[in-house]
Amino acid sequence: MKDKIGQLLEEVKSYTAASAFELEQFRIRFMARKGLVAELFDQFREIPATERKELGLLINQLKIAVQEKLDQYKTIFDKTGSISDDTIDLTRPANNVELGTRHPLSIVRSEIIRIFSRLGYTVKEGPEIEDDWHNFSALNFPPEHPARDMQDTFFITRNPDIALRTHTSSVQVRVMETSKPPIRAVFPGRVYRNEAISARAHCFFHQVEGLYIDHNVSFADLKQTLLYFAREMFSPETQIRLRPSYFPFTEPSAEMDISCNLCGGKGCGFCKYTGWVEILGCGMVDPNVLENCGIDSREYTGFAFGMGIERITNLKFQVKDLRLFSENDLRFLKQFEGAF
Ligand code: PHE
Repeated sequence: MKDKIGQLLEEVKSYTAASAFELEQFRIRFMARKGLVAELFDQFREIPATERKELGLLINQLKIAVQEKLDQYKTIFDKTGSISDDTIDLTRPANNVELGTRHPLSIVRSEIIRIFSRLGYTVKEGPEIEDDWHNFSALNFPPEHPARDMQDTFFITRNPDIALRTHTSSVQVRVMETSKPPIRAVFPGRVYRNEAISARAHCFFHQVEGLYIDHNVSFADLKQTLLYFAREMFSPETQIRLRPSYFPFTEPSAEMDISCNLCGGKGCGFCKYTGWVEILGCGMVDPNVLENCGIDSREYTGFAFGMGIERITNLKFQVKDLRLFSENDLRFLKQFEGAF
């Protein structure tokens, strides 16, 4: 054993390394967990006590010699840091990074925004935690107004003035308060309503609302804008139909249906044999709302509309269960890439 160590010691002392790669091989041979030094220490435990002292010294000498070589070369290779050093193979193909896909709701949101941006609409966003004024009062929902029950609101327990917004109309208020007409913008965002989670309802979903305020904006403008949207989003043959409805912040108000995009309006299971499917709410901005936000209702008129992104996505791709949108199942999410 003594001879063997002596030999190794000679070898180490006369060792020269030509590259960082070689040096690493050298380090592994001697110093790795199962390298020569460790092996010698293992054997050392089994030899008679009388020989231990001398052998112990020798093994330590060897270890120190190896470490010195390593330190000596390390400083050299670190300094040159040469890229040409053969531990780096520049011809090796890069690891394939698997790309994810965009979420279907993001894809549809972008498409909605793209369509309206071609009509000159800009995009504005606002907070998801809202105060009563922006979510309700400014929009003509007086306290105790039954319409507040239309939207089951999540309030903050300690402060009933603060809630999770139930619609992005709150952003319309913020924009009307802070800018002068003409205003032409869409408001995408997440909204919250206290509903039991099922295939058809969730406690949060996503909306894009829109607002156009200027001189002489009329209901005909609203109708034409929404017809353009429906035909861009679904197909050039799509028909629209407006049914009278009620929202506290618009007067008159309407809900809009499109001709069923599956059967083309003939009637099928999807549209419950009516030929029509509902896609959004809309109306002329109530003069009270304009005044609440500091806009002169004698000078300006405007229209507003709001749609659920999940709803549009369901119609476009016949997604049967809303919960799929928030479960992050890749088999579902991957099906939408390149949809538009
Ligand atoms: N804010 C309404 C909702 O969340 C949608 C809407 C917006 C209706 C604008 C009319 C005008 O249901």
